[in-house]
Order: sequence, then C-alpha cells, then structure tokens
Amino acid sequence: MKKILITGGAGFIGSHVVRLFVNNYPDTKIYNLDKLTYAGNLMNLQDIEDKENYHFVKGDIVDAAFVNELFDREQFDAVIHLAAESHVDRSIENPLEFVMTNIIGTVNLLNAAKNSWKPVLGTEMTDKRFYHVSTDEVYGTLGETGMFTEETSYDPHSPYSASKASSDHFVRAYGDTYGLPVVISNCSNNYGPFHFPEKLIPLCINNIKNNRSLPIYGKGENIRDWLFVVDHARAIDVVFHNAKNGSTYNIGGHNEWKNIDVIRLLCKIMDKKLGRSEGTSEQLITFVKDRAGHDLRYAIDSTKLQNELGWKPSLQFEEGLEKTVDWYLTNEEWLETVTSGAYKDYYKQQYTAR
Ligand code: NAD
Ligand code: DAU
Repeated sequence: MKKILITGGAGFIGSHVVRLFVNNYPDTKIYNLDKLTYAGNLMNLQDIEDKENYHFVKGDIVDAAFVNELFDREQFDAVIHLAAESHVDRSIENPLEFVMTNIIGTVNLLNAAKNSWKPVLGTEMTDKRFYHVSTDEVYGTLGETGMFTEETSYDPHSPYSASKASSDHFVRAYGDTYGLPVVISNCSNNYGPFHFPEKLIPLCINNIKNNRSLPIYGKGENIRDWLFVVDHARAIDVVFHNAKNGSTYNIGGHNEWKNIDVIRLLCKIMDKKLGRSEGTSEQLITFVKDRAGHDLRYAIDSTKLQNELGWKPSLQFEEGLEKTVDWYLTNEEWLETVTSGAYKDYYKQQYTAR
C-alpha cells in the first residue's frame, strides 16, 4: 500500500486535505503528523478517524530524531507538508516560534526524505514526491494593480511570510542540490469550515454571534484574494498528482475583496441567519490600530494551474461565505471548544489595547 505523510493535518487546511485524500484514495495509507498546537484539533477529523487507510501520529517536526525515526520506520512514498505556525499577528509577537516550526521543521522533513529516498542529482525520481504547501505572502505586497505570478520575486514583510519564504527556498535548494523530487504551491487566503477564529472571517463570525465588536485593522482598505478551503484542497490533489518535479503553481480564486467589504457582506449574511434586522451587525464594526507591516494587497494569477492542470474554483464567494456561516452556526460545540481557555488570553492580549 502506498504511504503519504501529510503534516499539519489537524489544522484548518490540513484537515480538508486529509479528508479528501482518505476518501478519494482508499488504497493509499494517509498518515497525519501533527503536534496538536492551539491550532490543531482532532475534532476536525472526527468523520474519517475510523477509516482503515487513516493513521494519526502526534509529534513535532522540530524534533529531528523523531522525524528521522518515523521515516525509517514507515518508509513514506510522499510528503504533503502543511504543518506551520500560520498566523501573521502571532508571528509579530513571537518570531522565533515561526523560525523553529516553519524553517527548521521543514528542513528536518527534507533531510528525512532525502535520507530515506536517496535521490541522485540528475536522475529524475518519479515514484516519490515532496510537496510544500505555501502562501502568496512570500511575494510581499501589490499596489493597486498587477497580480502575483509564479515568476514574481520573493519580498516577504512579516516574520510569518519571511519564514515561509525561507522554507520555500530550502525546498527548492533540496531539489537543485540533491535531486529531491520537490513541488511547491503558493495559495491566497482560504476561508471555510474549521478555520481557527484568530483569522479575520471566523473571528468576526464568532464576534457577531456574541455581539462583540468587529476589530478592523486600519481603514479596512487592505485587499485579500479569498478561496474556499475545499477548492484549495482540490487544487493540492491536482498539483500533487500531476505537477512536474521542481515546479511551482499559484492557487487563488480571482476573488479580491477589501476587508471592510468582506465584513459588511458577512454582517448582512449573519443578520439574515440570526433573524436580526438588516444593519444590526454592521454597528459592531470598530476600526482599530493597524497591523505592523500590513501588506496592502494580494492577488493571485492562477492561469498556469487552470491552463496546465485544468483546476478552477467551484464556488462564488457569496455562496462560500454563506456556507461557512451555516457551518459555524451549526457547529457551536466546535466553536465553543476552540474559543475557551487559551483563546481568551490570546484575544485579550491582541485586542484590549488596540
Ligand atoms: P493552521 O494553523 O490551521 O494549522 C497548522 C497545523 O500545523 C496545526 O494542526 C498545528 O497543530 C500543526 N503544527 C504546528 N506546528 C507544528 C509542529 N512543530 N509539528 C507538527 N505539527 C505542527 O494552518 P492552516 O491555515 O491550515 O495552514 C496550513 C498550511 O497552509 C501552512 O503551511 C500555511 O502556511 C499554508 N497556507 C495557509 C493559507 C491560509 O489562508 N490559511 C493560505 C496559503 C497557505
Ligand atoms: O494569503 C495567505 C495567508 O492568509 C496565509 O498564508 C496565512 O496563513 C493566513 O493567516 C492568511 O493571512 P492574513 O494575514 O491575510 O489573514 P488574516 O485573517 O489574519 O487577516 C486577513 C486580513 O484582515 C488582513 O488584511 C488583516 C485583517 N484583519 C485581521 C484580523 C485577525 C483585521 O482587519 N482584523 C483582525 O482582527
């Protein structure tokens, strides 16, 4: 049986990728390696945890001895690497954590794959794959026009994006130096079920539900390109199975929105769902101190992925956002679990003096 190691599979995007691979490839064994940080949650995978081709491993990718031992024991055929510290605001408070997991953790996985697969430079390895799931934030920020393509130079601004840019460079370096069969994709902002409520959309859903203020950084004019998380998982599936070694694909929804407009739309949907009169939730909008080094605009050109591999997003934003709201309103236990305990301290520290 083929074995794929997915790292970070208990997180937001990782759980959708694990679900898709477990369900679509019953003859492949899917290993989910996750440290279960504050962002990792096995509740995200309850519907597939009993499947025969699914196996969970709790562990830290920063621990090289553990990672090497796991590769020696299991002899994986492929890695899809998503485990990361993923929140920009937390990276501003604690950059070292991001260096450890995002850079050292990635290099540990690259070393373990290299030692296990023994690639030979100049010889194409077709039966193995190391796929790094990365972000459009490595490209930095755009002005009013233009889009990020696969040829855009890296120009990261936050400790988070600097750590992801570094890990991308290591992945390519292992391809060029050792012949490791690597692939990278860089995706725009995801939204959907299981999104941790430190990020803009789920944070505001939770706050609207609880009649708390909606903290919009600066003037709310920053632009993000939103993609429904299941469409990202579908793109990862397509890239994983079809990309050439050494290639990169940009993934995005061609769906740019100013933050303030996202939140106004969300307020409208929530008013309808909660039976509140239109305009009620918008009154909760509060403009707060801007994020340090806040990138103005992201926009992904995903033409290469669409033309070469035939992927395209399946959902319009309005439809995806409504689906997302429905999910949060019917999964109250999940929301309550993840917003209790440490989340309350995080929220107070991030937002009280803002
Ligand atoms: P997330 O924070 O929801 O999940 C990260 C997962 O990694 C968690 O389950 C966590 O427990 C695990 N993890 C963290 N440190 C670990 C360690 N040291 N060892 C093992 N596991 C560890 O993140 P996400 O939003 O699902 O993002 C997943 C990946 O996709 C990240 O690499 C991120 O950079 C990338 N990405 C995210 C987005 C987005 O919009 N969220 C967009 C593009 C790319
Ligand atoms: O672009 C891909 C990236 O998208 C991923 O690589 C990251 O892992 C992911 O977290 C996301 O980063 P952002 O910083 O864009 O997402 P976030 O939800 O934190 O913020 C979205 C926008 O909303 C951003 O312009 C900052 C703003 N914002 C965010 C929060 C948490 C607010 O105005 N208020 C808030 O409270």
